[in-house]
Amino acid sequence: MIETIKQRWAAFDASMAAVSTLDQLNRLRVDYLGKKGCVPQFLKDLRGVSADAKPAVGKRINDLKTHVETALEEKTRVLEAKSDEAGGKEFFDVSLPGKKETAGSLHPVAQVMEEIVSVFYGLGFGVEEGPEIETDYYNFEALNIPKDHPARDMQDTFYVEEDLVLRTHTSPVQIHVMERRQPPLRIIAPGKVYRHDSDVTHTPMFHQIEGLMVDENVSFSNLKGIMDVFVHRVFGERTKLRFRPSFFPFTCPSAEVDIQCVMCLGKGCRVCSNTGWLEILGAGMVDPAVFRSVNYDPEKWTGLAFGLGIERVAMLKYGINDIRLFFENDLRFLKQF
Ligand code: FA5
Repeated sequence: MIETIKQRWAAFDASMAAVSTLDQLNRLRVDYLGKKGCVPQFLKDLRGVSADAKPAVGKRINDLKTHVETALEEKTRVLEAKSDEAGGKEFFDVSLPGKKETAGSLHPVAQVMEEIVSVFYGLGFGVEEGPEIETDYYNFEALNIPKDHPARDMQDTFYVEEDLVLRTHTSPVQIHVMERRQPPLRIIAPGKVYRHDSDVTHTPMFHQIEGLMVDENVSFSNLKGIMDVFVHRVFGERTKLRFRPSFFPFTCPSAEVDIQCVMCLGKGCRVCSNTGWLEILGAGMVDPAVFRSVNYDPEKWTGLAFGLGIERVAMLKYGINDIRLFFENDLRFLKQF
């Protein structure tokens, strides 16, 4: 093996003497020091050398490595200096095609999230955050969903421990904020949520934006007005939306807001389950029981709240017919945004 090392050493010196460009120098670096280069290969082969010979062979390999590194460093300095003297011209072939730098961009879900946040920001809502792992109390109890309440089944929950869950919605942020602050308040809380759910419009992890406004004399028409502004800013002035009566234990009355399915323009398709509408959010007037759990006086304060699914909004905005595409990391899909 020592003989082979000597031969490669001589070959390196000969190649180095012939090098005149930084490109050639780089190729030589790869040949000798690259992952599949000569020095790493010698180090691998060393494993098969007998214990007696190992120290001597190992030393030779290390000497070769130091020699190669020093020579490469020196030559780099010489060639760079030359290139500087020549104003860089010597190594710049103007006829070569340019290298296109690829710029990264925000994920479509992040883009839509930013857009929605800026709409609500414009309406005076500040941004708040909350933990993704929640206690049973914040995810359910404080939101008027006691243990054994059938409403717990509305959101298939991932349990971390008996009293600890991956939050199933962003509504617990309402409680954290109201515990910390006094009304009047107007906040939104964007973030990830988790449910045991998967099909063309459901994924186990998705994003919601929670909205909460508490003040004196907040009414359902405030909620309708805010939802109108939001839908028309994000989807365009002519987009139809509808309020459908619904139930959430933490709001009363409650509604779900649908917008007309952009895939079939209301005719009915696989994405909207042939209804012509796609649900994007749940909303309602804050239930007095929630105010009591944060020690707000329900006689004095009134509130509206909503929670919308960002992927659903992105699907409708861009005409995407399967929510799972957002999470497959296929660049052919992601580069379109
Ligand atoms: C809730 O999560 C309530 N916390 C919303 C709310 C907040 C109501 C405040 C009242 C007051 P819901 O389970 O309907 O509600 O989910 C809200 C939205 O999240 C849905 O409208 C839908 O757009 C989206 N969504 C729900 N499940 C999934 C899922 N598995 N994948 C993607 N998006 C989903």
